[in-house]
Amino acid sequence: MTLLQFAMAIFFILIFSFNFIPIPSQSQAVEFTYTGFSDQKSNISLNGVALIDENGILQLTNESSRFKGHAFFPTPLQLKNSTTGAAFSFSSCFAFSIHPEYPKLGGHGMAFTISPSKELNSSLPSQYLGLMNSSDVGNSSNHIFAVEFDTVQDFEFGDINDNHVGIDINSMVSNASATAAYFGDDSVKNDLNLKGGEPILAWVDYDSITNLFNVTISPASVKPQIPLLSMQVDLSPVLLDNMYVGFSASTGLLASSHYVLGWSFSINGEAKSLDLGSLPSLPAPKKKPISLIVSLSVVGSVVLLLASIAIAIFLYKKIKNAEVIESWELEIGPHRYKYQELKRATRGFKDSELLGSGGFGRVYKGTLRHPKTEVAVKRISHESKQGVREFVSEISSIGRLRHRNLAQLLGWCRCGGDLLLVYEYMPNGSLDKWLFDEPKYVLSWNQRFKIIKGVASGLLYLHEGYEQIVLHRDVKASNVLLDYEMNGKLGDFGLAKLYDHGSNPSTTRVVGTLGYLAPELSRTGKATTSSDVFAFGALLLEVVCGRRPIESRSNPEDLVLLDYVWNKWKEGRILDVVDPKMKGHFDESEVLMVLKLGLMCSGNEPSGRPSMRQILSYMEHEIEMPEIVKVPGVGGDDIEGGFENYLYSYASSSFDKTMSSIGGMSSGNVDKSSTSMVTSMSTSPFLHVHSLREAR
Ligand SMILES: *[C@@H]1O[C@H](CO)[C@@H](O)[C@H](O)[C@H]1NC(C)=O
Ligand SMILES: *[C@@H]1O[C@H](CO)[C@@H](O)[C@H](O)[C@H]1NC(C)=O
Ligand SMILES: *[C@@H]1O[C@H](CO)[C@@H](O)[C@H](O)[C@H]1NC(C)=O
Ligand SMILES: *[C@@H]1O[C@H](CO)[C@@H](O)[C@H](O)[C@H]1NC(C)=O
Ligand SMILES: *[C@@H]1O[C@H](CO)[C@@H](O)[C@H](O)[C@H]1NC(C)=O
Ligand SMILES: *[C@@H]1O[C@H](CO)[C@@H](O)[C@H](O)[C@H]1NC(C)=O
Ligand SMILES: *[C@@H]1O[C@H](CO)[C@@H](O)[C@H](O)[C@H]1NC(C)=O
Ligand SMILES: *[C@@H]1O[C@H](CO)[C@@H](O)[C@H](O)[C@H]1NC(C)=O
Repeated sequence: MTLLQFAMAIFFILIFSFNFIPIPSQSQAVEFTYTGFSDQKSNISLNGVALIDENGILQLTNESSRFKGHAFFPTPLQLKNSTTGAAFSFSSCFAFSIHPEYPKLGGHGMAFTISPSKELNSSLPSQYLGLMNSSDVGNSSNHIFAVEFDTVQDFEFGDINDNHVGIDINSMVSNASATAAYFGDDSVKNDLNLKGGEPILAWVDYDSITNLFNVTISPASVKPQIPLLSMQVDLSPVLLDNMYVGFSASTGLLASSHYVLGWSFSINGEAKSLDLGSLPSLPAPKKKPISLIVSLSVVGSVVLLLASIAIAIFLYKKIKNAEVIESWELEIGPHRYKYQELKRATRGFKDSELLGSGGFGRVYKGTLRHPKTEVAVKRISHESKQGVREFVSEISSIGRLRHRNLAQLLGWCRCGGDLLLVYEYMPNGSLDKWLFDEPKYVLSWNQRFKIIKGVASGLLYLHEGYEQIVLHRDVKASNVLLDYEMNGKLGDFGLAKLYDHGSNPSTTRVVGTLGYLAPELSRTGKATTSSDVFAFGALLLEVVCGRRPIESRSNPEDLVLLDYVWNKWKEGRILDVVDPKMKGHFDESEVLMVLKLGLMCSGNEPSGRPSMRQILSYMEHEIEMPEIVKVPGVGGDDIEGGFENYLYSYASSSFDKTMSSIGGMSSGNVDKSSTSMVTSMSTSPFLHVHSLREAR
């Protein structure tokens, strides 16, 4: 045997032991089949957390949060005739299985992918499925074609539900999608749960003559006659000459293990059919301790041993003060707490542990045992379970927001219609207590300026620093929390969405607090970054003046803080408005700048308000403040009109109770004052303002 023969023999042994049979033939037909992925030497390019497990199963992601995994055929395939530019027909068959961390909550999904790159380095996990990022979604230069098996309903991409199959072209917004199902022999449609953990076979077939693309799925090895999705599409402009073919999957705060058990692919031919029975089988479902005990107890000889193990476990648990938990709970990352744990941490949600309450629910102080940490636990009861469930999928994105000026969401727990959110504990409570109540000491100007700069950079992060724009929608003093060093951190971001999901989509609900609500909100109901800026402006004035945006005063004309500040500005006595508690100790130019900024942010016209980036640049003295502050209002000359119109807009809007009292709860503050202020404002004070206007 020559060396060459020997090498050939080894080659074939290797090839067959890896269950990998690539057959590139002379014609255009290229095909390959993986009936399992054997050991690491199996020829497939992995990336992210993807790996081949000991059973030869390709695992794209595990049940850890916010990961992506990719697996691609190692070499690019020619999917187009390079002279005519026409796409070739192709066909693929693969078996996959999705094991969610929580039986009913998937996270996020996987996709059969045709891509120009096999790394997809700049793609994001979570709702992007490791395919794209927020800036390139929908861009035709992506050249990404994917069939998604999505187990989370993402509203931003118009997902139909949390169990669907979709065809995605250069975008996460599917060009066609359908609830996962298959047609039986009798053409009856049967629903199929993608995240049920059972292997599912999928077929994707593209015919370049008829320009039809079909997707078919089935829990059995026989291909159903009728495809689940059939779409008319010419892939020629989407595909490049050479493309990588493979899979992508991702997890968010909710996570699933995504497995591929086998895969065949063919260009200009039909992909080899796969038999679920001959593919590697999935790891057996993890047994719960109870069933383990039962099965073992059958074996008489080990009963004694078992008993002693049980006693040992019992003692061990007793020592650790741990309770018996389901095995799937053991795999839960630090972000998902057990209800019992939170109940114990807050001493059964005792009133003595109550830090505050408001429109969103109640906040309790809690002490977690392992590791010993102080947390604030927000308990939100929602009238609609569905709303909570949908919100849980939002938690993944809220949990990803990280900034030193945002109160960090540490985790969550859902128990029926109750949602518990765990935040870092803020020892110094909320800013409103320091401004309006009887604080331990009066905040100095330097402290105040540091706090508002912090809040500004937190808000800028929400608006611009994250992969998508996040609106806070309830910026106010009671949502600004203070840490040990009196740094300001914004709390409650993203919660307004909970109310979006819960409410009837045909009625617009404005979330926010009166006095911080931009006038256009009551007209359009649509929150924007400018409406956040408006609320931030109210916060600025509040911090300088040490009074609430709307507060009854002896002089009714001063009811609205903004009016009051503006009047003093016109009179040229602007420094009169500064909080007298500071006893004149402040940096005049900074105070002036902040007041000016507050007025600029409070303009009636959203377009006239500065952006958070501009605001921060002013505060950092990077750019000069404009000399003249335009009168908040439509026309610069309409000096009288401005604020009363603004108040009028409240009177004419149809606030409902939730709308005006939502918000105002954060770890560390009792927000009764502002809630009651809001409620009373929504009734009589309008009349008051009205008559005030007539009296003029
Ligand atoms: C994997 O396949 C590619 C192309 O078929 C080949 O170049 C490479 O050497 C193979 N790698 C292994 C480890 O077999
Ligand atoms: C998932 O994979 C990541 C990266 O390989 C690893 O750090 C993590 O521990 C894994 N999680 C689980 C639950 O196995
Ligand atoms: C591309 O199309 C031309 C014209 O139809 C044909 O002659 C040629 O063989 C095709 N090339 C490939 C690689 O299929
Ligand atoms: C993706 O990242 C890997 C590792 O960081 C790097 O080797 C590779 O070149 C990158 N690919 C692209 C297309 O940038
Ligand atoms: C998004 O992906 C594209 C490439 O597809 C990359 O050029 C861009 O920098 C990425 N953007 C972000 C914000 O990561
Ligand atoms: C699409 O992406 C290309 C290259 O990344 C970029 O030049 C172009 O501006 C993007 N188009 C849109 C509409 O974002
Ligand atoms: C697919 O959808 C994207 C955006 O939704 C759209 O730009 C594109 O034209 C659609 N493609 C086809 C082939 O319908
Ligand atoms: C797609 O499905 C239709 C039936 O809906 C069938 O007529 C057609 O042949 C299928 N095409 C492919 C490429 O499988």
